[in-house]
Amino acid sequence: MRVVLAYSGGLDTSVILKLLQEKLGAEVVTVTVDVGQEDDLAEVEQKAYRLGAKAHYTVEAKEEFVRDYVFKAVMMNALYDGAYPLSTALARPLIAEKVAEVAKKEGADAVAHGCTGKGNDQLRFDIAFKALLPGIKIIAPVREWGLTREWEAQYAAKHGIPVKSKAYSIDENLWGRSVEGGAIEDITAEPPEEIYAWTVNPAKAPDEPLYLEVEFSAGVPSRVNGEKMGPVEMVKFLNQVAGAHGVGRVDMIENRVVGLKSREIYEVPAATVLITAHKELERLTLTKRSMDFKEMVDGEWAKLVYQGLWFEPLREALEAFAYKLESRVTGNVRLKLFKGSVSVVGRNSPYGLYDFDLISYFRSGFDQKMAIGFVELFGFQAVASHHKRPS
Ligand code: ARG
Repeated sequence: MRVVLAYSGGLDTSVILKLLQEKLGAEVVTVTVDVGQEDDLAEVEQKAYRLGAKAHYTVEAKEEFVRDYVFKAVMMNALYDGAYPLSTALARPLIAEKVAEVAKKEGADAVAHGCTGKGNDQLRFDIAFKALLPGIKIIAPVREWGLTREWEAQYAAKHGIPVKSKAYSIDENLWGRSVEGGAIEDITAEPPEEIYAWTVNPAKAPDEPLYLEVEFSAGVPSRVNGEKMGPVEMVKFLNQVAGAHGVGRVDMIENRVVGLKSREIYEVPAATVLITAHKELERLTLTKRSMDFKEMVDGEWAKLVYQGLWFEPLREALEAFAYKLESRVTGNVRLKLFKGSVSVVGRNSPYGLYDFDLISYFRSGFDQKMAIGFVELFGFQAVASHHKRPS
């Protein structure tokens, strides 16, 4: 049997790589997709071969990830449960797609992944594989064979599998860093400082604020501080500068698809900056009705992606709705980053609906008498029914 394994080089997938050979006598081909995790991918490849991989593929997907996944999430202001920018969730369907391509090429009998039966990633991988490789066998050893991290750590030690850290479960890509497990599971306690890698403690951030100007063109970020930047370059730059100001730490209780509540720590500096800026430009350029409706659409989009339903046609239908409005979401937003916070301090758009002559206290462009009849009619039913209320 030939199995293609989505391989990160971490504890779970390294143990699985060995187990698939040992328990199933499988020939294993490993695939590592580069979505900007800060791992040494040459080292991951070596490790795969050392653990018996028949072949290994490293697939570069950073540009595609930011362009086709991350920037869509910005357009949709994607925050699951109002706080999680979907960093892990967004990369899964792309990773699955790259693994599926290898599985086809290698004529695989099965694909394998390292997800547990408690989390969301199993939905994202399984559903993507079922969509892309109809009828393929999916092997998820952690879930099927009930592997625990303690057992894995022992097995790794016994088989000389090198492991970096097993105190936390960490997932990383350009859009963010997710940390689960270990000390974080005590939800009453502040997380130890050691879990953070991308952000400085806001208390230790510079005493001078940093101003950033982000430009959007039809809802897509195009420039920072007037400088044209490629998608990957821009996200890396923002992670770095915003992280240095302590921006982008999220500590939340999250609703997993399987119903469990979990405590999650995220580091998402670029996501925090870009979504804040994008949302502000929508405030300036969209009508109240469009904004209210889009908020519902955005929420549904984030939920679909979180739940592993990237291949659900509704996702693209929701995006089509957004594209219609986003042609107006062009312009600049000026942000101030200071000790962990991002605040909007300025905005400008050729399609902005803000009208200085009408709104200003110093101008008389607005005929205030128009309002008298408007107010009368606007409150008509509310006033009438208040007067006629039952006692
Ligand atoms: N809870 C997040 C999600 O479902 C992140 C999961 C990250 N996984 C991890 N091993 N840290 O998308």
